[in-house]
Amino acid sequence: MLEELSDHIMDIAMNSVRAGARHVSVSVQSDVARDRLTIAISDDGAGMSEDTLKAVVDPFYSTKAGKKVGLGIPLLKGAAEMCDGTFQVRSTLGRGTEIEATFVLHHPDLPPLGDVKETMFLLSVSNPEIRFSFRCDVDGKEFLLDTGEMRDVLGGVPINHPEVVAYLRRYVEGHG
Ligand SMILES: Nc1ncnc2c1ncn2[C@@H]1O[C@H](COP(=O)(O)OP(=O)(O)O)[C@@H](O)[C@H]1O
Ligand SMILES: [Mg+2]
Repeated sequence: MLEELSDHIMDIAMNSVRAGARHVSVSVQSDVARDRLTIAISDDGAGMSEDTLKAVVDPFYSTKAGKKVGLGIPLLKGAAEMCDGTFQVRSTLGRGTEIEATFVLHHPDLPPLGDVKETMFLLSVSNPEIRFSFRCDVDGKEFLLDTGEMRDVLGGVPINHPEVVAYLRRYVEGHG
């Protein structure tokens, strides 16, 4: 098991990066009334064939060169199911992929959330050419970050420029 939900988010979002996505959306939302935590990650990357899609929940399937096990998707599925949640992957070759995992919010096995904002920061600055749309709305605290909107304001200055990284760092720490 990965220890924190933010580790799962990093793994699933890196699949999107590897699939050549130009735009990756990540949302993490808690709904106390419905006792649910929902993590949704979608991308406009290469997508998966129906065969790959079927195999992808199998922990021994991976298209990574030299690697015999792919664990990112099965681990998130396992974590969601352990918390009486649900797991869904939708994917279309050439169009993209959507993954949604839900967890029972009060479940004793619910992994800690981890530092989701840090994960979002790291994904953004290490993949400056990709637009990330992040939304984290947990415990009544909402955090939004859209690197596409930032790019419009920056006018050609890359998201990994040291001053932009410093700005982003302050923003994720809540004093931007
Ligand atoms: N967003 C995605 N777009 C296209 N293919 C994907 C995506 N996510 C996963 N895959 C495919 O599913 C396989 C398994 O993914 P995963 O379980 O995370 O293991 P790993 O990333 O270690 O291969 C990947 O190797 C890739 O072929
Ligand atoms: Mg993976």
